Amino acid sequence: MAALISPSILSADFANLERDLHKIADADYAHVDVMDYHFVPNLTLGLPVFERLAQVSPVPLDAHLMIEDPDRWAPAYAEAGAASVTFHAEAAAAPVRLARELRRQGARAGVALRPATPVEPFLDLLAEVDMILVMTVEPGFGGQSFIEGTLPKIRRARQAVSESGLDVWVQVDGGISRSTIEQAADAGANVFVAGSAVYGADDVAGEIAALRDLATA
Ligand code: DX5
Ligand code: ZN
Repeated sequence: MAALISPSILSADFANLERDLHKIADADYAHVDVMDYHFVPNLTLGLPVFERLAQVSPVPLDAHLMIEDPDRWAPAYAEAGAASVTFHAEAAAAPVRLARELRRQGARAGVALRPATPVEPFLDLLAEVDMILVMTVEPGFGGQSFIEGTLPKIRRARQAVSESGLDVWVQVDGGISRSTIEQAADAGANVFVAGSAVYGADDVAGEIAALRDLATA
């Protein structure tokens, strides 16, 4: 399976976001973490900044909304030009209605699960989404260590997708680096978010290529 790399700009220089988006021009997506101080204890950026990023980014934007009330706020990110909009299962009141709305707007729709949130309730609804994001750390901060206990959930998600015959992507986010990406790929992930590993590297393009190779092997 082709591995897609989506570096997280959470680890970029927030005073130089356009420059840092160009550093990852070889990636498949740019992962943009939106946090609201409520769903997670951190605050990053919102729609006005996101709209400008969508205008200047050389790669499509993969929005990860760690916010309360995504039913209300997520469609605006699709409208702003996100290629993919992922909302949290724990925060959405009507995930199927929201996913349908995002798709109607032309975005891919993703549903994200915190490490302790089970994937089972979503396995019968795979036809309604384009991606399941299995969080491999507790959302909120970059630079945390990969939680190996999430591997069985990645496997269950991939198995259900395979059985369904649908083309639903399985994304992993948190603690992904050269030392963990193979485990996640082996468990069935095909989209890999990496923040500190990519932006902390001296050779950003080389790091993206190395991660892609490891995930594809
Ligand atoms: C964490 C964010 C991640 C974060 C990953 O809540 O969703 O996207 O940037 O950072 P690393 O790759 O450093 O764990
Ligand atoms: Zn993220």
